[in-house]
Amino acid sequence: MRAIIQEQYGGPEVLTLGERPDPKVAPGEVLIRVKAAGVNPVDWKLGAGYLDAMMETQFPITPGWDVSGVVEAVGLDVYDYEVGDEVIGYVRKDWVQNGTYAELVAANVRLIARKPAALDWTEAAGLPLAGLTAYQCLDRVRVGEGETVLVHAAAGGVGAFATQLAVLRGARVIGTASERNHDFLRELGAEPVSYGEGLVERVRSLVPNGVDAVVDCVGGESIDASREVLSDFSRLVSVVDPRAEELGGATMWVRPNAADLTELARLADAGELRVFVDRVLPLEQAAEAWRLSMEGRTRGKIVLSVA
Ligand SMILES: NC(=O)c1ccc[n+]([C@@H]2O[C@H](COP(=O)([O-])OP(=O)(O)OC[C@H]3O[C@@H](n4cnc5c(N)ncnc54)[C@H](OP(=O)(O)O)[C@@H]3O)[C@@H](O)[C@H]2O)c1
Repeated sequence: MRAIIQEQYGGPEVLTLGERPDPKVAPGEVLIRVKAAGVNPVDWKLGAGYLDAMMETQFPITPGWDVSGVVEAVGLDVYDYEVGDEVIGYVRKDWVQNGTYAELVAANVRLIARKPAALDWTEAAGLPLAGLTAYQCLDRVRVGEGETVLVHAAAGGVGAFATQLAVLRGARVIGTASERNHDFLRELGAEPVSYGEGLVERVRSLVPNGVDAVVDCVGGESIDASREVLSDFSRLVSVVDPRAEELGGATMWVRPNAADLTELARLADAGELRVFVDRVLPLEQAAEAWRLSMEGRTRGKIVLSVA
């Protein structure tokens, strides 16, 4: 099969398109013919070796954890999926080796769900990792009806889902983004505020008594600002900054979860959750996709089109 290959840690420059053996399909797994692979910041963070202390990596590796595609084969004990089923997955395995930037990927059934028919292949590939992160963050800080939640980086992959899901829960959402994304945030149902100096005052002008919960996808200055507008720090969750935990909140890592992913797919099919695809690039331009992602300006998702 054709796949993006990385022989060593590094940046976009170490990614090449090459041939790898087709993956084997172990018991518990399905083989997915990849239609599209979502790009996430963790892909290039892993690729650079930032997570080396925590995840086993066996070079050569093929990056990528997000996928949409069609089941091409099933493992011996798999009865819940059949050849031809359309699926999505957050295919994070126990070690880093055979990712989704490829024509084929094997995935344990615990990592996948049925593809929402309402989404096209590229939209569907943008849903799993960022959607699950947003979903699990809102659960973690118990966002409920009538509450106000501050989402830092509300226009990004995770933030755009967190904003929509919080609105669906009946919450009022204040989202941070640069000016160019303010109309986009309004479209998602949020009240936009610009980040940077004066953020605390801008949030306070909207909610003088502060917010009930915070979902942070930025870290650093956004944690400092959150401290000023939140009183119960147990309702602070950050997906990037360990200081959230020191303050009594949570630093969270998304977990693959087929039930959560199925619920996200249901919401997408019901027209309640949208996937915003900023850029689609062909598989062979994975390096360019990483460069764009590293700029930190993505609105919604970047996706690689594979077939
Ligand atoms: N722990 C986990 O499980 C987990 C899961 C997913 C992601 N993450 C991490 O969470 C972070 C966000 O992921 P993502 O996929 O959402 O990234 P992303 O899509 O690349 O985020 C891009 C967005 O960030 C916004 N942004 C940049 N600087 C900002 C700032 N200072 N304040 C507010 N917004 C800012 C940009 O908006 P403007 O263009 O308007 O500036 C842009 O829309 C990454 O570091 C990622 O690795 C962690």
